[in-house]
Amino acid sequence: MKKIKKIAVMTSGGDAPGMNAAIRSVVRACAFYNVECVGIYRGYQGMIDGDFKTFSARSVNNIIQKGGTILKSARSLEFRTKEGRKKAFSKLKKENVDGLVVIGGDGSFTGAVIFNKEFNFPIIGIPGTIDNDIYGTTHTLGYDTALNTVVESIDKIRDTASSHNRLFFVEVMGRDAGFIALNAGIGAGAEEILIPEEDLGLERLLQSLQKSRRAGKSSSIVVVAEGDKTGKNVFELADYVEKNLPEYEVRVSVLGHMQRGGSPTCFDRVLASRLGVKSVELLLDGKTNLMVGLINNEVVTTVLEKAIEGKHIVNTELLRVSDIITI
Ligand code: F6P
Repeated sequence: MKKIKKIAVMTSGGDAPGMNAAIRSVVRACAFYNVECVGIYRGYQGMIDGDFKTFSARSVNNIIQKGGTILKSARSLEFRTKEGRKKAFSKLKKENVDGLVVIGGDGSFTGAVIFNKEFNFPIIGIPGTIDNDIYGTTHTLGYDTALNTVVESIDKIRDTASSHNRLFFVEVMGRDAGFIALNAGIGAGAEEILIPEEDLGLERLLQSLQKSRRAGKSSSIVVVAEGDKTGKNVFELADYVEKNLPEYEVRVSVLGHMQRGGSPTCFDRVLASRLGVKSVELLLDGKTNLMVGLINNEVVTTVLEKAIEGKHIVNTELLRVSDIITI
């Protein structure tokens, strides 16, 4: 196996708090092991364009606390073509890069697997997405920060909901997964949590809200995962409830992209630091096609294809807990 002398790092897909901490960790680990490091801007499109910059240990000062990604991120249709990937490979070779760390989600890993197959180019993946929907890790970078952002936001919504005796529907991100909705919903004391993994039906929602009212709750919060499967979007849900439960005054709040921003929590910074170091050490050990992750607070590796195909299952036991504590 060729000795790795120069490692490139990039961020791809939806940005997530902690990505900068991971970039910092990769760059610093390269410096520690006397390996050159290159930052690739704008993900795979930047690779095709040769949008590279040499990074030293000092290049990543004061970024651990920053949300977003200093390397930017972009979607690349050109990288989906063999021609585009050939261009990317030629730019990496021209830059004498011989190993790559991709920080992103399953879409980014899919591109990495195809690239590795076509060019036998060593690649390690770091799971970076607020959705937490990646197999092979209990936590993806940004998930913990997003949870805390959502809980803080719902706490604020609860102030006005209780002041006006209103029912709020709060839509949260997560693409097709309910991790954010379920955990932040419990953390924020939501009366109901609607997630894609468990469609409890609209009738049950009405009954639950009526039960809350009878239990003397003058206001309620319903957290709705954006990928929820009730067949109604959050505004249609609100209308449906308002029509069937006229005693409720209903409002909607869509948290949107603020869930993607913010300074990463300590948890995400530590996770990023651990995964960044491990990804460099794996490349230097001649490893490839692996994703680094956290299981039982240990850093582990999963074959990239498995990380893409596998399913990270929401713990629906938490729904039972939520039912009990919202009596
Ligand atoms: O994957 C992260 C995520 O924030 C999802 O939760 C959300 O559905 C999606 O990205 C939004 O994508 P975009 O930023 O392209 O609008």
